[in-house]
Amino acid sequence: MHEPSLQQIPRLVVLISGSGSNLQVLINAIADGTIAATIELVISNKQEAMGLARANRAGIATQVINHLDYGSREAFDRELMHAIDDKQPDLIVLAGFMRIFTPELTHRYEGRMLNIHPSLLPLFKGTNTHERALEAEVEQHGASVHFVSSELDGGPIVIQALVPVLNMDSPSILASRVLVQEHIIYPIAIKWFCEGRLKLHNNTVLMDGHSLPTQGMPFQC
Ligand code: GRF
Repeated sequence: MHEPSLQQIPRLVVLISGSGSNLQVLINAIADGTIAATIELVISNKQEAMGLARANRAGIATQVINHLDYGSREAFDRELMHAIDDKQPDLIVLAGFMRIFTPELTHRYEGRMLNIHPSLLPLFKGTNTHERALEAEVEQHGASVHFVSSELDGGPIVIQALVPVLNMDSPSILASRVLVQEHIIYPIAIKWFCEGRLKLHNNTVLMDGHSLPTQGMPFQC
């Protein structure tokens, strides 16, 4: 497995599909010195993704790989892997990338691909998490950062932010409070990884050499 050494600045590739607000907080955290890393490339599967403009503004290379141009999930993933591997990244950051990967891709990047998901995993995997949390009348909702595995939103959890559900919440209001927390916990997890403190070993998340609980590190603001 390719692991960042302290001698080199970790190289990141970020995958997006939309607004890119999580990408923006990462760009900011690198710019202000909070995270020592470089973003080598931002890949989007959508030409119109607003995150591409954020990358351009920051002088970061971008590439659009439109899944609609490929006849199969396998062919799309092969092109993605080609683009990612060309940059030899230490870490691949999924920041609102709305495609499901083949096992070949998830296996290739095991232990060096992180995702952020807007729910307290393992609850509400997949889409429409805020609607489903409200329908289920949970008292606590939130966001999770996890290592990516072949199971959709099912990889080992690194950190979770808890967001209380309020009486008057609508899906969009709840989503906006969760997003604020995403912007806090994702840079934390990426920083840990870049500092060599966070690792995946035998499907267990290790922080400073110690295994984390299955729910990851809890974070409450
Ligand atoms: C976030 O809510 C993230 O958890 C989900 O997609 C959204 C992306 O937002 N996977 P942004 O593109 O980073 O603004």
